[in-house]
Amino acid sequence: MVKIAPSLLSADFASLAEELKDIERGGADLVHLDIMDGHFVPNLTFGAPIIKALRPHTNLTFDAHLMVYHPENYVKPLADAGVNMVSFHVEAAPHADRIVHMIKDAGMKAGIVLNPATSLSTVDYLLEIVDYVLLMSVNPGFGGQKFISYTMDKVRSLRSMISERHLNCQIEIDGGVKAENAGKLAEAGADILVAGSAVFGKEDRKAAIAALR
Ligand code: DX5
Ligand code: ZN
Repeated sequence: MVKIAPSLLSADFASLAEELKDIERGGADLVHLDIMDGHFVPNLTFGAPIIKALRPHTNLTFDAHLMVYHPENYVKPLADAGVNMVSFHVEAAPHADRIVHMIKDAGMKAGIVLNPATSLSTVDYLLEIVDYVLLMSVNPGFGGQKFISYTMDKVRSLRSMISERHLNCQIEIDGGVKAENAGKLAEAGADILVAGSAVFGKEDRKAAIAALR
């Protein structure tokens, strides 16, 4: 059963607690939190203090996606803020193995993120230790972009790599996910679908989440 993770990036930033409650009532499985530093990506969002303030307003699993340089500096603050899963970009981290262990030692699930044009070979060894791989299907930094079609094959290839090695690693896909491509993505092997504009861009979030599922 595929999981739906609405991305707060497309929510009303002036009413984040209300927006969280709305997607929780609407049947979301997780909430995807896009953390940007204005350097790794040309945009800036929010960090651990805002996430900590939101934690008491929902029981949803907090799935943090770090689009930052020096992801290691964010691990402890995010654990203290009540985040459950943290992923960071392989393109931003020369010491990925160390950071995966830091995340796990802090009691969270660890994921590695790949930009659309980054080869799957970069996660070959990491597959043994991460809980999930987040494949970007747009260039990170902004919501509401068009799905990059070649990433559909990338999901399929990653799924075979994982099953051939009998690993327990999940696949999350992020960017341009809509009701129109959600079914195909799940069929290709995605376990978690991130959707920003396809959920928060709609008046009725419950209907939007149901359409994706
Ligand atoms: C992009 C973010 C995504 C974004 C997806 O940098 O990582 O999580 O919110 O937005 P949509 O679903 O609108 O493409
Ligand atoms: Zn994201």
